[in-house]
Amino acid sequence: MSDTTPRLEIRNITRRFGGRAVVDDVSLAVMPGQVTCLLGPSGCGKSTTLRIIAGVDMQDEGTIFVDGALVCDTIFRVPPEGRSIGLMFQDFALFPHLSVADNVAFGLKGPKAARRARVEELLARVEMLRFIDDYPHELSGGEQQRVALARALAPRPGIMLMDEPFSGLDNRLRDDIRDQTLSVLKEEGAAVLLVTHEPEEAMRMADEIALMRGGRIVQQGAPYNIYNAPVDKAAAGFFSDINVIRGRVHGFLTDTPFGQFMTPAVPEDTEVEIIIRPQHLKIEFDRNGVGPAPTPENGAAARAVVDRARFMGSESLLEFRMEYDGSMLKATVPGVFLPKPGTPMWLMIRRERCFVFPATGSTQSRPAG
Ligand SMILES: Nc1ncnc2c1ncn2[C@@H]1O[C@H](COP(=O)(O)OP(=O)(O)OP(=O)(O)O)[C@@H](O)[C@H]1O
Ligand SMILES: [Mg+2]
Repeated sequence: MSDTTPRLEIRNITRRFGGRAVVDDVSLAVMPGQVTCLLGPSGCGKSTTLRIIAGVDMQDEGTIFVDGALVCDTIFRVPPEGRSIGLMFQDFALFPHLSVADNVAFGLKGPKAARRARVEELLARVEMLRFIDDYPHELSGGEQQRVALARALAPRPGIMLMDEPFSGLDNRLRDDIRDQTLSVLKEEGAAVLLVTHEPEEAMRMADEIALMRGGRIVQQGAPYNIYNAPVDKAAAGFFSDINVIRGRVHGFLTDTPFGQFMTPAVPEDTEVEIIIRPQHLKIEFDRNGVGPAPTPENGAAARAVVDRARFMGSESLLEFRMEYDGSMLKATVPGVFLPKPGTPMWLMIRRERCFVFPATGSTQSRPAG
């Protein structure tokens, strides 16, 4: 095993139910100490993938390797308990009749003193040492979650599989528990595969995101890359609200409210969708019907009228009706900015932040659950 051997690798995993491939030719590798998030809408096959890796379900095709050694193909199969895998699922039930100490010690072998030391070490790490003699019903949801994490990590699994482990917690608590969990996981050096349908959670936790849709991984990479170079409209729209500006290509150019766009890679007469996130629109005041001059990076300004403005906490969300064609565009600006409906303004778009996709073919919106 070399430094470049993934801790966990799955190759070409397919799982069918009633003839339908709910996991369809999925391949992934996770290095020790790395967190990979399997991110996608409800029903796309995330939990099924995790169950196959854990060994509680079996693939119809494909292979699974741990530290370069085969643990499962369609004939040979290491049982779940032989895979050095820690599990943490949404309904992580602690054993109600066991104390916190005994819950965490549950999967541990070896001399009593060593087991106790490991239990104390992990409870200290999740800041739960003072609850060591308590029972689960005496703990809050977040505290139980931390004990469950300690329990899953106690036997030093090489791989941690986590399926929406934070979804039962309220928002503020969730952020804290996520951050704490992440630092404990990093210290333990396990390879982590975390399932979530929340992009914010994936961005916060992941070294790498595998974006899944309809049983397939449609894009894989660092959060920054997936966010800034989505493969299609649905991938862009999974991470934030998006604006879609439609147009048709003539001579490598597309007319938009913001002037002509270069669309060189798209064939003549194709309908295209230009995608821009709301935070990448620029807003300027109207000065007696005059707007800002065109710039190479932003193109031309387009006149629009405020339709609605809402304060969202750290930013304001504005909806505009475009004078050009009556279409609606959304823009966000930091802080409080709440112009009255009907106020004329000028919009510009940061062109290097736009994504252009052909409107047909693989750009349908994401499938429903
Ligand atoms: N044992 C089964 N028999 C038949 N169909 C199944 C079985 N398990 C899962 N499926 C189907 O496979 C698809 C994927 O399910 P899966 O649980 O993997 O989705 P998911 O991505 O985890 O969704 P969610 O975010 O809602 O948890 C679903 O359409 C589901 O109905
Ligand atoms: Mg699931």
